[in-house]
Amino acid sequence: MGVPAHAAPVSGRVPSNPFGLGVASGDPTPNSVVLWTRLAPEPLAEDGHGGMPPDDHTVEYEVARDERFRDVVTTGRAVASAELAHAVHPLVTGLEPGREYFYRFRAGGEISPTGRTRTAPARDAAPDSLAFALASCQAWYHGHYTAYRDMAERDLDLVLFLGDYIYEYGITGANLRRGGTGNLSAAHAASVVTLEQYRLRYALTKSDPHLQAAHAHAPWLMTPDDHEVENNYADDVSPLGTRSEDFLRRRAVAYRALYENLPLSPEALPEGPDMRLYRRLRFGGLAEFNVLDTRQHRDDVPADGGTPGGDHTDPERSILGERQERWLYEGLRDSRATWNVLAQQVVMASVDRDPGEGTEYSMDIWDGFTANRERLFDTLVSHEVANPLVLTGDIHRHAAAELKADFDDPDSATIGTELVTTSVSSGGDGSDRDRLADLWLANPHVKLYNARRGYVGVTMTPSEVTSEFRVLDQIEADDTGTVSVAARFVTESGRPGLNRESGGRQ
Ligand SMILES: [Fe+2]
Repeated sequence: MGVPAHAAPVSGRVPSNPFGLGVASGDPTPNSVVLWTRLAPEPLAEDGHGGMPPDDHTVEYEVARDERFRDVVTTGRAVASAELAHAVHPLVTGLEPGREYFYRFRAGGEISPTGRTRTAPARDAAPDSLAFALASCQAWYHGHYTAYRDMAERDLDLVLFLGDYIYEYGITGANLRRGGTGNLSAAHAASVVTLEQYRLRYALTKSDPHLQAAHAHAPWLMTPDDHEVENNYADDVSPLGTRSEDFLRRRAVAYRALYENLPLSPEALPEGPDMRLYRRLRFGGLAEFNVLDTRQHRDDVPADGGTPGGDHTDPERSILGERQERWLYEGLRDSRATWNVLAQQVVMASVDRDPGEGTEYSMDIWDGFTANRERLFDTLVSHEVANPLVLTGDIHRHAAAELKADFDDPDSATIGTELVTTSVSSGGDGSDRDRLADLWLANPHVKLYNARRGYVGVTMTPSEVTSEFRVLDQIEADDTGTVSVAARFVTESGRPGLNRESGGRQ
Protein backbone atom coordinates (compact mmCIF):
# COMPACT_ATOMS: atom_id res chain seq x y z
CA MET A 1 0.00 0.00 0.00
CA GLY A 2 1.15 3.55 -0.54
CA VAL A 3 2.10 5.62 2.48
CA PRO A 4 2.12 9.41 2.75
CA ALA A 5 5.30 10.96 1.37
CA HIS A 6 6.06 12.55 4.77
CA ALA A 7 6.03 9.18 6.58
CA ALA A 8 9.36 8.40 8.20
CA PRO A 9 11.44 5.79 6.38
CA VAL A 10 11.50 2.45 8.14
CA SER A 11 14.98 1.73 9.39
CA GLY A 12 17.09 -1.33 8.76
CA ARG A 13 19.60 -2.23 6.12
CA VAL A 14 18.42 -3.77 2.88
CA PRO A 15 20.83 -6.47 1.68
CA SER A 16 22.44 -5.83 -1.69
CA ASN A 17 20.76 -6.81 -4.99
CA PRO A 18 17.21 -6.73 -3.56
CA PHE A 19 15.39 -6.71 -6.93
CA GLY A 20 16.04 -10.31 -8.00
CA LEU A 21 12.36 -10.94 -8.75
CA GLY A 22 12.00 -8.01 -11.13
CA VAL A 23 9.26 -5.41 -11.38
CA ALA A 24 5.70 -5.46 -12.70
CA SER A 25 2.58 -3.40 -13.22
CA GLY A 26 -1.07 -4.30 -13.54
CA ASP A 27 -4.77 -3.42 -13.65
CA PRO A 28 -4.46 -0.18 -15.63
CA THR A 29 -7.29 2.35 -15.49
CA PRO A 30 -7.42 5.70 -17.34
CA ASN A 31 -5.58 7.43 -14.47
CA SER A 32 -3.93 4.71 -12.41
CA VAL A 33 -1.84 1.58 -12.46
CA VAL A 34 -0.59 -0.81 -9.77
CA LEU A 35 3.18 -1.14 -9.51
CA TRP A 36 4.83 -4.16 -7.96
CA THR A 37 8.13 -5.42 -6.68
CA ARG A 38 9.23 -7.75 -3.91
CA LEU A 39 12.56 -7.39 -2.13
CA ALA A 40 14.44 -10.68 -2.43
CA PRO A 41 18.23 -10.50 -2.52
CA GLU A 42 18.39 -14.31 -2.43
CA PRO A 43 15.19 -15.29 -4.26
CA LEU A 44 15.72 -19.02 -3.79
CA ALA A 45 16.59 -18.99 -0.09
CA GLU A 46 15.09 -22.26 1.10
CA ASP A 47 13.13 -20.72 3.96
CA GLY A 48 11.01 -18.76 1.46
CA HIS A 49 12.03 -15.36 2.89
CA GLY A 50 14.06 -14.37 -0.17
CA GLY A 51 17.13 -13.54 1.88
CA MET A 52 15.40 -10.68 3.71
CA PRO A 53 15.70 -10.09 7.45
CA PRO A 54 12.32 -10.16 9.25
CA ASP A 55 11.87 -6.39 9.48
CA ASP A 56 10.04 -3.84 7.37
CA HIS A 57 11.67 -1.54 4.84
CA THR A 58 10.75 1.52 2.86
CA VAL A 59 10.73 1.25 -0.91
CA GLU A 60 10.62 4.41 -3.00
CA TYR A 61 9.23 4.50 -6.49
CA GLU A 62 9.18 6.96 -9.33
CA VAL A 63 7.09 7.16 -12.47
CA ALA A 64 8.22 9.08 -15.53
CA ARG A 65 7.09 9.84 -19.05
CA ASP A 66 10.47 8.82 -20.42
CA GLU A 67 12.75 5.85 -20.02
CA ARG A 68 15.62 8.00 -18.69
CA PHE A 69 13.50 9.48 -15.87
CA ARG A 70 14.07 13.08 -16.93
CA ASP A 71 10.35 13.80 -16.90
CA VAL A 72 9.22 12.33 -13.58
CA VAL A 73 5.49 12.72 -12.98
CA THR A 74 5.18 11.20 -9.54
CA THR A 75 7.19 9.65 -6.72
CA GLY A 76 6.15 7.88 -3.56
CA ARG A 77 6.99 5.44 -0.84
CA ALA A 78 5.60 2.08 0.14
CA VAL A 79 6.36 -0.18 3.09
CA ALA A 80 7.76 -3.59 2.20
CA SER A 81 6.57 -5.53 5.23
CA ALA A 82 7.89 -8.88 6.33
CA GLU A 83 4.25 -9.91 6.75
CA LEU A 84 3.73 -9.63 2.97
CA ALA A 85 7.10 -11.14 2.00
CA HIS A 86 8.53 -7.63 1.43
CA ALA A 87 6.25 -7.05 -1.55
CA VAL A 88 4.84 -3.63 -2.39
CA HIS A 89 1.78 -2.81 -4.51
CA PRO A 90 1.63 0.99 -4.76
CA LEU A 91 -1.46 2.18 -6.61
CA VAL A 92 -0.20 5.17 -8.59
CA THR A 93 -2.94 7.66 -9.40
CA GLY A 94 -3.18 10.98 -11.21
CA LEU A 95 -1.78 9.63 -14.47
CA GLU A 96 -2.92 10.61 -17.95
CA PRO A 97 -5.11 8.19 -19.92
CA GLY A 98 -3.82 6.12 -22.82
CA ARG A 99 -0.18 6.94 -22.17
CA GLU A 100 3.06 5.05 -21.78
CA TYR A 101 4.97 5.42 -18.51
CA PHE A 102 8.21 4.09 -17.06
CA TYR A 103 8.75 3.20 -13.41
CA ARG A 104 11.46 1.98 -11.08
CA PHE A 105 12.00 1.35 -7.39
CA ARG A 106 14.76 2.26 -4.96
CA ALA A 107 15.63 0.41 -1.75
CA GLY A 108 18.78 0.40 0.34
CA GLY A 109 20.46 2.74 -2.12
CA GLU A 110 19.89 0.39 -5.06
CA ILE A 111 17.74 0.95 -8.09
CA SER A 112 15.53 -1.67 -9.69
CA PRO A 113 15.30 -2.49 -13.38
CA THR A 114 12.97 -0.13 -15.25
CA GLY A 115 9.46 -1.26 -16.12
CA ARG A 116 7.21 0.07 -18.87
CA THR A 117 3.49 0.36 -18.43
CA ARG A 118 0.50 1.97 -20.09
CA THR A 119 -2.69 3.46 -18.72
CA ALA A 120 -6.08 2.62 -20.22
CA PRO A 121 -7.67 5.12 -22.63
CA ALA A 122 -10.07 7.71 -21.24
CA ARG A 123 -13.55 6.37 -20.58
CA ASP A 124 -15.04 8.45 -23.39
CA ALA A 125 -12.18 7.81 -25.84
CA ALA A 126 -12.59 5.80 -29.03
CA PRO A 127 -9.25 3.97 -29.40
CA ASP A 128 -8.23 2.83 -32.89
CA SER A 129 -6.72 -0.38 -31.60
CA LEU A 130 -5.65 -2.39 -28.61
CA ALA A 131 -2.88 -5.01 -28.72
CA PHE A 132 -2.71 -7.67 -26.06
CA ALA A 133 -1.42 -11.19 -25.46
CA LEU A 134 -2.98 -14.20 -23.72
CA ALA A 135 -0.88 -16.53 -21.58
CA SER A 136 -1.54 -19.35 -19.14
CA CYS A 137 -0.09 -22.46 -17.50
CA GLN A 138 3.60 -22.06 -16.82
CA ALA A 139 4.88 -25.13 -14.95
CA TRP A 140 8.46 -23.95 -14.45
CA TYR A 141 9.87 -27.46 -14.46
CA HIS A 142 8.37 -28.44 -17.84
CA GLY A 143 10.34 -26.00 -19.95
CA HIS A 144 11.60 -22.53 -20.74
CA TYR A 145 9.41 -19.45 -20.98
CA THR A 146 10.40 -18.81 -24.58
CA ALA A 147 6.86 -17.60 -25.28
CA TYR A 148 7.61 -14.54 -23.12
CA ARG A 149 10.85 -13.93 -24.99
CA ASP A 150 8.75 -13.44 -28.12
CA MET A 151 5.98 -11.57 -26.30
CA ALA A 152 8.40 -9.01 -24.84
CA GLU A 153 9.45 -8.04 -28.39
CA ARG A 154 5.92 -6.98 -29.38
CA ASP A 155 4.28 -3.64 -28.91
CA LEU A 156 1.62 -4.53 -26.33
CA ASP A 157 -0.90 -2.53 -24.35
CA LEU A 158 -1.69 -5.40 -22.00
CA VAL A 159 -0.94 -9.02 -21.08
CA LEU A 160 -3.84 -11.19 -19.92
CA PHE A 161 -2.79 -14.10 -17.74
CA LEU A 162 -5.54 -16.70 -17.43
CA GLY A 163 -4.41 -19.14 -14.73
CA ASP A 164 -1.77 -21.55 -13.44
CA TYR A 165 1.03 -19.06 -12.80
CA ILE A 166 2.63 -21.66 -10.51
CA TYR A 167 2.08 -25.38 -9.98
CA GLU A 168 1.97 -26.87 -6.51
CA TYR A 169 3.64 -30.21 -7.33
CA GLY A 170 7.01 -31.21 -5.94
CA ILE A 171 9.83 -30.97 -8.48
CA THR A 172 11.90 -34.12 -8.84
CA GLY A 173 13.89 -35.91 -11.53
CA ALA A 174 10.59 -37.44 -12.67
CA ASN A 175 9.00 -34.17 -13.83
CA LEU A 176 11.96 -31.83 -14.38
CA ARG A 177 12.06 -31.34 -18.16
CA ARG A 178 13.53 -27.80 -18.27
CA GLY A 179 17.05 -28.26 -19.59
CA GLY A 180 20.17 -26.59 -18.21
CA THR A 181 18.81 -25.93 -14.73
CA GLY A 182 21.60 -27.56 -12.74
CA ASN A 183 20.94 -28.86 -9.28
CA LEU A 184 17.69 -27.87 -7.65
CA SER A 185 17.76 -27.95 -3.86
CA ALA A 186 15.67 -30.44 -1.90
CA ALA A 187 13.34 -27.63 -0.79
CA HIS A 188 11.66 -27.78 -4.23
CA ALA A 189 10.95 -31.53 -4.12
CA ALA A 190 8.05 -31.36 -1.68
CA SER A 191 4.46 -30.64 -2.63
CA VAL A 192 3.77 -26.94 -1.99
CA VAL A 193 1.51 -26.49 1.04
CA THR A 194 2.86 -23.86 3.46
CA LEU A 195 3.09 -20.09 2.96
CA GLU A 196 6.88 -20.26 2.77
CA GLN A 197 6.71 -23.06 0.18
CA TYR A 198 4.29 -21.09 -2.00
CA ARG A 199 6.58 -18.05 -1.73
CA LEU A 200 9.56 -20.13 -2.78
CA ARG A 201 7.64 -21.57 -5.75
CA TYR A 202 6.73 -18.07 -6.94
CA ALA A 203 10.38 -17.07 -6.60
CA LEU A 204 11.51 -20.07 -8.64
CA THR A 205 8.91 -19.30 -11.32
CA LYS A 206 9.91 -15.64 -11.39
CA SER A 207 13.61 -16.47 -11.66
CA ASP A 208 13.00 -16.94 -15.40
CA PRO A 209 14.39 -13.84 -17.18
CA HIS A 210 11.80 -13.94 -19.96
CA LEU A 211 8.93 -13.88 -17.46
CA GLN A 212 10.54 -10.89 -15.74
CA ALA A 213 10.93 -9.19 -19.12
CA ALA A 214 7.26 -9.77 -19.98
CA HIS A 215 6.21 -8.26 -16.64
CA ALA A 216 8.47 -5.24 -17.16
CA HIS A 217 7.18 -4.80 -20.72
CA ALA A 218 3.44 -4.18 -20.25
CA PRO A 219 0.78 -4.10 -17.55
CA TRP A 220 -0.76 -7.46 -16.70
CA LEU A 221 -4.34 -8.34 -15.99
CA MET A 222 -4.08 -11.58 -14.08
CA THR A 223 -6.51 -14.15 -12.78
CA PRO A 224 -5.49 -17.49 -11.22
CA ASP A 225 -6.98 -20.92 -11.82
CA ASP A 226 -6.54 -24.04 -9.68
CA HIS A 227 -2.80 -24.77 -9.48
CA GLU A 228 -2.07 -21.56 -7.59
CA VAL A 229 -3.72 -23.52 -4.74
CA GLU A 230 -4.35 -27.18 -5.61
CA ASN A 231 -5.31 -29.11 -8.74
CA ASN A 232 -9.05 -29.01 -9.55
CA TYR A 233 -10.25 -27.50 -6.29
CA ALA A 234 -13.78 -26.11 -6.14
CA ASP A 235 -14.39 -23.34 -3.57
CA ASP A 236 -13.67 -25.09 -0.24
CA VAL A 237 -13.59 -28.62 -1.69
CA SER A 238 -10.27 -30.37 -2.24
CA PRO A 239 -10.28 -33.34 -4.63
CA LEU A 240 -7.79 -34.93 -2.22
CA GLY A 241 -10.55 -35.19 0.36
CA THR A 242 -8.95 -32.74 2.79
CA ARG A 243 -11.41 -31.46 5.41
CA SER A 244 -12.89 -28.15 4.28
CA GLU A 245 -11.48 -26.14 7.21
CA ASP A 246 -8.00 -27.52 6.57
CA PHE A 247 -8.26 -26.86 2.85
CA LEU A 248 -9.37 -23.28 3.49
CA ARG A 249 -6.24 -22.77 5.60
CA ARG A 250 -4.18 -23.90 2.62
CA ARG A 251 -6.21 -21.67 0.29
CA ALA A 252 -5.55 -18.72 2.59
CA VAL A 253 -1.76 -19.07 2.44
CA ALA A 254 -1.86 -19.81 -1.30
CA TYR A 255 -3.93 -16.67 -1.97
CA ARG A 256 -1.60 -14.65 0.25
CA ALA A 257 1.45 -15.76 -1.71
CA LEU A 258 -0.41 -15.11 -4.98
CA TYR A 259 -1.15 -11.54 -3.91
CA GLU A 260 2.41 -11.02 -2.71
CA ASN A 261 3.88 -12.01 -6.06
CA LEU A 262 1.63 -10.37 -8.65
CA PRO A 263 0.78 -6.78 -9.58
CA LEU A 264 -2.75 -7.09 -8.20
CA SER A 265 -4.61 -4.09 -6.84
CA PRO A 266 -4.60 -3.57 -3.05
CA GLU A 267 -8.34 -4.30 -3.31
CA ALA A 268 -7.37 -7.93 -3.98
CA LEU A 269 -5.49 -8.27 -0.66
CA PRO A 270 -6.88 -11.55 0.71
CA GLU A 271 -8.83 -11.73 3.94
CA GLY A 272 -8.13 -15.21 5.21
CA PRO A 273 -9.19 -17.65 2.46
CA ASP A 274 -11.16 -14.99 0.55
CA MET A 275 -9.82 -12.88 -2.26
CA ARG A 276 -11.69 -10.49 -4.56
CA LEU A 277 -10.48 -11.43 -8.03
CA TYR A 278 -13.35 -10.73 -10.38
CA ARG A 279 -13.24 -7.21 -11.71
CA ARG A 280 -13.99 -5.06 -14.74
CA LEU A 281 -11.63 -2.84 -16.71
CA ARG A 282 -12.68 -0.55 -19.49
CA PHE A 283 -10.67 0.56 -22.52
CA GLY A 284 -12.68 3.54 -23.70
CA GLY A 285 -15.54 2.62 -26.01
CA LEU A 286 -13.53 -0.18 -27.59
CA ALA A 287 -13.58 -2.91 -24.96
CA GLU A 288 -14.69 -3.89 -21.53
CA PHE A 289 -12.75 -6.70 -19.87
CA ASN A 290 -14.68 -8.79 -17.35
CA VAL A 291 -12.02 -10.73 -15.48
CA LEU A 292 -13.70 -13.76 -13.95
CA ASP A 293 -12.98 -16.13 -11.07
CA THR A 294 -14.33 -19.59 -11.92
CA ARG A 295 -12.65 -21.40 -8.98
CA GLN A 296 -13.28 -19.68 -5.70
CA HIS A 297 -17.07 -19.56 -5.84
CA ARG A 298 -17.94 -22.65 -7.92
CA ASP A 299 -20.07 -25.60 -6.89
CA ASP A 300 -18.34 -28.94 -6.47
CA VAL A 301 -17.88 -31.49 -9.24
CA PRO A 302 -21.32 -32.92 -10.12
CA ALA A 303 -22.21 -36.43 -9.04
CA ASP A 304 -23.15 -37.67 -12.50
CA GLY A 305 -20.00 -37.20 -14.57
CA GLY A 306 -21.90 -35.75 -17.52
CA THR A 307 -24.80 -38.09 -18.35
CA PRO A 308 -27.65 -36.35 -20.23
CA GLY A 309 -29.95 -34.54 -17.82
CA GLY A 310 -27.72 -35.45 -14.90
CA ASP A 311 -26.61 -33.44 -11.89
CA HIS A 312 -24.33 -31.25 -14.03
CA THR A 313 -27.43 -29.68 -15.59
CA ASP A 314 -28.95 -28.76 -12.19
CA PRO A 315 -30.17 -25.13 -12.49
CA GLU A 316 -28.85 -24.46 -8.97
CA ARG A 317 -25.29 -25.12 -10.07
CA SER A 318 -22.95 -22.21 -10.75
CA ILE A 319 -19.30 -21.94 -11.79
CA LEU A 320 -19.25 -18.24 -10.86
CA GLY A 321 -21.37 -18.21 -7.72
CA GLU A 322 -24.54 -16.15 -7.36
CA ARG A 323 -22.92 -12.80 -6.56
CA GLN A 324 -20.42 -12.94 -9.41
CA GLU A 325 -23.15 -14.02 -11.84
CA ARG A 326 -25.29 -11.04 -10.88
CA TRP A 327 -22.32 -8.67 -11.13
CA LEU A 328 -21.41 -10.06 -14.57
CA TYR A 329 -24.91 -9.92 -16.05
CA GLU A 330 -25.49 -6.36 -14.79
CA GLY A 331 -22.18 -5.28 -16.27
CA LEU A 332 -22.87 -6.90 -19.62
CA ARG A 333 -26.36 -5.43 -19.75
CA ASP A 334 -25.07 -1.91 -19.05
CA SER A 335 -21.98 -2.09 -21.25
CA ARG A 336 -21.73 0.15 -24.28
CA ALA A 337 -18.35 -1.22 -25.39
CA THR A 338 -17.82 -2.52 -28.93
CA TRP A 339 -16.19 -5.73 -27.59
CA ASN A 340 -17.31 -7.42 -24.40
CA VAL A 341 -14.47 -9.61 -23.21
CA LEU A 342 -14.69 -12.39 -20.64
CA ALA A 343 -11.13 -13.14 -19.48
CA GLN A 344 -11.42 -16.41 -17.61
CA GLN A 345 -9.95 -19.81 -16.85
CA VAL A 346 -11.72 -22.87 -18.25
CA VAL A 347 -13.21 -23.75 -21.64
CA MET A 348 -16.70 -22.39 -22.17
CA ALA A 349 -17.58 -24.08 -25.48
CA SER A 350 -19.18 -27.48 -25.09
CA VAL A 351 -16.75 -30.22 -26.11
CA ASP A 352 -18.09 -33.73 -26.52
CA ARG A 353 -15.12 -36.09 -26.22
CA ASP A 354 -16.98 -39.21 -27.31
CA PRO A 355 -16.32 -39.81 -31.01
CA GLY A 356 -19.42 -41.99 -31.38
CA GLU A 357 -23.13 -41.69 -30.61
CA GLY A 358 -22.60 -41.24 -26.89
CA THR A 359 -21.46 -38.12 -25.06
CA GLU A 360 -18.57 -37.48 -22.71
CA TYR A 361 -17.82 -34.13 -21.12
CA SER A 362 -15.22 -32.75 -18.75
CA MET A 363 -16.95 -31.71 -15.55
CA ASP A 364 -14.19 -29.30 -14.46
CA ILE A 365 -15.07 -26.78 -17.19
CA TRP A 366 -18.28 -24.96 -18.17
CA ASP A 367 -19.71 -28.29 -19.43
CA GLY A 368 -20.07 -29.21 -15.74
CA PHE A 369 -22.20 -26.11 -15.15
CA THR A 370 -24.58 -26.01 -18.11
CA ALA A 371 -27.30 -23.95 -16.40
CA ASN A 372 -24.77 -21.22 -15.60
CA ARG A 373 -23.70 -21.20 -19.25
CA GLU A 374 -27.32 -20.94 -20.35
CA ARG A 375 -27.96 -18.01 -18.00
CA LEU A 376 -24.89 -16.26 -19.42
CA PHE A 377 -25.90 -16.94 -23.03
CA ASP A 378 -29.47 -15.79 -22.32
CA THR A 379 -28.03 -12.53 -21.00
CA LEU A 380 -25.86 -12.08 -24.09
CA VAL A 381 -28.81 -12.68 -26.43
CA SER A 382 -31.64 -10.95 -24.59
CA HIS A 383 -29.63 -7.76 -23.93
CA GLU A 384 -28.00 -7.85 -27.36
CA VAL A 385 -24.56 -7.62 -25.75
CA ALA A 386 -22.13 -6.48 -28.45
CA ASN A 387 -19.45 -8.88 -29.64
CA PRO A 388 -18.92 -11.33 -26.77
CA LEU A 389 -15.30 -12.54 -26.80
CA VAL A 390 -14.29 -15.26 -24.33
CA LEU A 391 -10.58 -15.70 -23.54
CA THR A 392 -9.51 -18.93 -21.88
CA GLY A 393 -6.52 -21.01 -20.75
CA ASP A 394 -6.25 -24.27 -18.76
CA ILE A 395 -6.11 -27.03 -21.38
CA HIS A 396 -2.47 -26.66 -22.54
CA ARG A 397 -3.69 -26.52 -26.13
CA HIS A 398 -4.44 -23.71 -28.53
CA ALA A 399 -8.10 -23.88 -29.46
CA ALA A 400 -10.61 -21.59 -31.08
CA ALA A 401 -14.35 -22.16 -31.00
CA GLU A 402 -17.63 -20.59 -31.96
CA LEU A 403 -20.07 -20.33 -29.06
CA LYS A 404 -23.40 -21.73 -30.22
CA ALA A 405 -26.93 -21.11 -29.01
CA ASP A 406 -27.27 -24.92 -29.18
CA PHE A 407 -23.98 -26.80 -29.28
CA ASP A 408 -25.78 -29.91 -30.55
CA ASP A 409 -27.10 -28.05 -33.59
CA PRO A 410 -24.38 -26.76 -35.93
CA ASP A 411 -27.01 -24.63 -37.70
CA SER A 412 -27.96 -22.75 -34.52
CA ALA A 413 -26.86 -19.16 -34.09
CA THR A 414 -23.25 -18.34 -33.21
CA ILE A 415 -23.50 -15.90 -30.33
CA GLY A 416 -19.85 -15.41 -29.41
CA THR A 417 -16.24 -16.37 -30.01
CA GLU A 418 -13.80 -18.20 -27.74
CA LEU A 419 -10.01 -18.05 -28.04
CA VAL A 420 -8.12 -20.57 -25.90
CA THR A 421 -4.39 -20.05 -25.34
CA THR A 422 -2.08 -23.02 -24.95
CA SER A 423 0.36 -23.30 -22.05
CA VAL A 424 3.54 -21.28 -21.87
CA SER A 425 5.39 -24.40 -20.69
CA SER A 426 3.09 -26.97 -19.00
CA GLY A 427 3.31 -30.29 -20.82
CA GLY A 428 6.77 -29.72 -22.30
CA ASP A 429 7.50 -29.50 -26.03
CA GLY A 430 4.16 -30.88 -27.24
CA SER A 431 3.24 -31.45 -30.90
CA ASP A 432 0.75 -30.08 -33.40
CA ARG A 433 -1.56 -33.07 -32.92
CA ASP A 434 -2.05 -35.33 -29.93
CA ARG A 435 -4.41 -38.12 -28.87
CA LEU A 436 -7.27 -35.69 -28.11
CA ALA A 437 -7.10 -33.81 -31.43
CA ASP A 438 -9.65 -35.94 -33.28
CA LEU A 439 -12.07 -35.91 -30.35
CA TRP A 440 -12.01 -32.12 -30.15
CA LEU A 441 -12.19 -31.63 -33.91
CA ALA A 442 -15.24 -33.89 -34.16
CA ASN A 443 -17.09 -30.91 -32.64
CA PRO A 444 -17.86 -28.72 -35.68
CA HIS A 445 -17.79 -25.45 -33.71
CA VAL A 446 -14.13 -26.13 -32.79
CA LYS A 447 -12.07 -24.39 -35.48
CA LEU A 448 -8.54 -24.96 -34.13
CA TYR A 449 -6.75 -27.48 -31.96
CA ASN A 450 -2.97 -27.42 -31.56
CA ALA A 451 -0.96 -29.07 -28.78
CA ARG A 452 2.27 -27.05 -28.93
CA ARG A 453 3.40 -24.45 -26.41
CA GLY A 454 3.06 -20.71 -27.01
CA TYR A 455 0.61 -17.84 -26.60
CA VAL A 456 -2.02 -15.87 -28.52
CA GLY A 457 -1.45 -12.35 -29.82
CA VAL A 458 -4.64 -10.32 -30.26
CA THR A 459 -5.17 -7.05 -32.10
CA MET A 460 -8.54 -5.42 -31.51
CA THR A 461 -9.97 -2.57 -33.56
CA PRO A 462 -13.53 -1.19 -33.71
CA SER A 463 -14.20 -3.34 -36.78
CA GLU A 464 -12.39 -6.63 -36.06
CA VAL A 465 -10.34 -8.81 -33.74
CA THR A 466 -7.34 -10.60 -35.20
CA SER A 467 -6.04 -13.56 -33.20
CA GLU A 468 -2.66 -15.08 -33.94
CA PHE A 469 -1.92 -18.46 -32.35
CA ARG A 470 1.86 -18.54 -31.94
CA VAL A 471 3.72 -21.80 -31.23
CA LEU A 472 7.27 -22.92 -30.45
CA ASP A 473 9.14 -25.85 -31.94
CA GLN A 474 10.65 -26.71 -28.54
CA ILE A 475 10.87 -25.35 -25.00
CA GLU A 476 12.48 -28.17 -23.00
CA ALA A 477 16.11 -28.11 -24.15
CA ASP A 478 16.73 -24.37 -23.91
CA ASP A 479 15.13 -21.00 -24.62
CA THR A 480 16.22 -20.69 -28.25
CA GLY A 481 13.05 -22.24 -29.72
CA THR A 482 11.67 -20.89 -32.99
CA VAL A 483 8.29 -19.20 -33.15
CA SER A 484 5.75 -19.82 -35.89
CA VAL A 485 2.08 -19.03 -36.39
CA ALA A 486 -0.18 -22.11 -36.22
CA ALA A 487 -3.26 -20.19 -37.30
CA ARG A 488 -4.63 -16.70 -37.63
CA PHE A 489 -8.31 -15.75 -37.45
CA VAL A 490 -10.34 -12.61 -37.92
CA THR A 491 -13.56 -11.99 -36.03
CA GLU A 492 -15.62 -9.18 -37.45
CA SER A 493 -17.62 -6.82 -35.29
CA GLY A 494 -21.30 -7.71 -35.53
CA ARG A 495 -20.51 -11.17 -36.93
CA PRO A 496 -19.47 -13.54 -34.11
CA GLY A 497 -17.32 -16.50 -35.08
CA LEU A 498 -13.97 -17.22 -36.70
CA ASN A 499 -12.74 -16.45 -40.22
CA ARG A 500 -9.51 -18.31 -40.91
CA GLU A 501 -6.75 -16.19 -42.43
CA SER A 502 -3.99 -18.78 -42.25
CA GLY A 503 -3.19 -22.21 -40.84
CA GLY A 504 -5.26 -25.39 -40.66
CA ARG A 505 -7.69 -26.69 -38.06
CA GLN A 506 -4.80 -28.53 -36.44
FE1 LIG B 1 -2.43 -25.74 -16.35
